[in-house]
Amino acid sequence: MGLVLDDIHLGTLLLSPMAGITDSVFRRLSRRMGAGAVYTEFVSSDGVIRNNRRTLEMASFRPEEHPVGVQLFGGDPEVLANAARQVWELGPDLIDINFGCPVRKVVKKTAGSAVLRDLGLYREIIASVVAAVPGPVTVKIRAGWDEESLVFSEAAGIAAEEGVRAITLHPRTRAQGYSGRADWDRITRLVEVSPIPVIGNGDLFEPEDVLRMMEETGCRAVMIARGAIGNPWIFSRTRTLLEEGIAPPPPLPVERLETALLHARLEMESKGEPRGLREVRKHMAYYTKGLWHGAKLRQAIFRLEQYAAIESLIRDYLDALSRFDAGEPSHFGPEEDAREELTGA
Ligand SMILES: Cc1cc2nc3c(=O)[nH]c(=O)nc-3n(C[C@H](O)[C@H](O)[C@H](O)COP(=O)(O)O)c2cc1C
Repeated sequence: MGLVLDDIHLGTLLLSPMAGITDSVFRRLSRRMGAGAVYTEFVSSDGVIRNNRRTLEMASFRPEEHPVGVQLFGGDPEVLANAARQVWELGPDLIDINFGCPVRKVVKKTAGSAVLRDLGLYREIIASVVAAVPGPVTVKIRAGWDEESLVFSEAAGIAAEEGVRAITLHPRTRAQGYSGRADWDRITRLVEVSPIPVIGNGDLFEPEDVLRMMEETGCRAVMIARGAIGNPWIFSRTRTLLEEGIAPPPPLPVERLETALLHARLEMESKGEPRGLREVRKHMAYYTKGLWHGAKLRQAIFRLEQYAAIESLIRDYLDALSRFDAGEPSHFGPEEDAREELTGA
């Protein structure tokens, strides 16, 4: 089931590239939880050819992440080709080209979604990257720049002609940003006309959403982005739904926080202070969403300056939670008690 490119089994559920989120740690967790393949954050082709240390770090990965795609962005076909050649040496399973990023800093340089306004340039970029690397190249696009220029079908045709192996469609336009709903009908239409496999993307937050997208649009694989943040179980739960017809319930708070702690420890190991701590705070904010007194827990985490203190706060919280589950309500109840419980204040 799912997508196979050059004997590389990408599976059905892919972790979508997300700047500032899908670093190596997040990708490893997602693979462990059942993602069939993972993608790096988008990587600047200019940064690669300048050998920028942070950029090259973003393009690197660990063996256990395979299959892994490195996503590149840029506006100059030659620079992109050179960057792809350089990144290929790191041993990824595929190179993905970003034609979807809506951010001003990126589109100003005619990169990301801006390339969709110039399909000549789009073709040139693809041709030069495909010629530069011996392995599969995929592309990820938005539906177009705005409602007046929906180019996704044409873009898939060009990509196929130039040797691209699969295309991911986030069916919003650049003008839409993240507003409104992703129009899955556009994915359906693309599946009908695209000569290459289509990976569906947009608004997959629950396992049932994935099933519905695959049934409604006929796409062979999907990419999950926001739905995986603080929620890597979406992969395992969705896999079970697709294979057995029923999704397991969401994880209990204790499992969420144990995974959050694992995520946090790995971030600290890989990035150290202070970068690791920033990652920990960011991801904890998502893992604690919807938890009992989650807002208070987050506030307390954001006040702490040491990773060890954050870990012991979470342990205290879990302790308090288990006492509560055991029917000892004195530790919980009014907000004031919770604050005391969580911060020692
Ligand atoms: C924080 C964040 C960062 C993102 N960074 C990238 C990126 O680097 N490359 C890319 O192709 N898309 C990026 N995206 C877009 C997602 O990969 C995805 O296409 C979009 O969020 C729609 O999917 P979703 O509804 O599952 O979130 C990003 C999205 C978010 C929320």
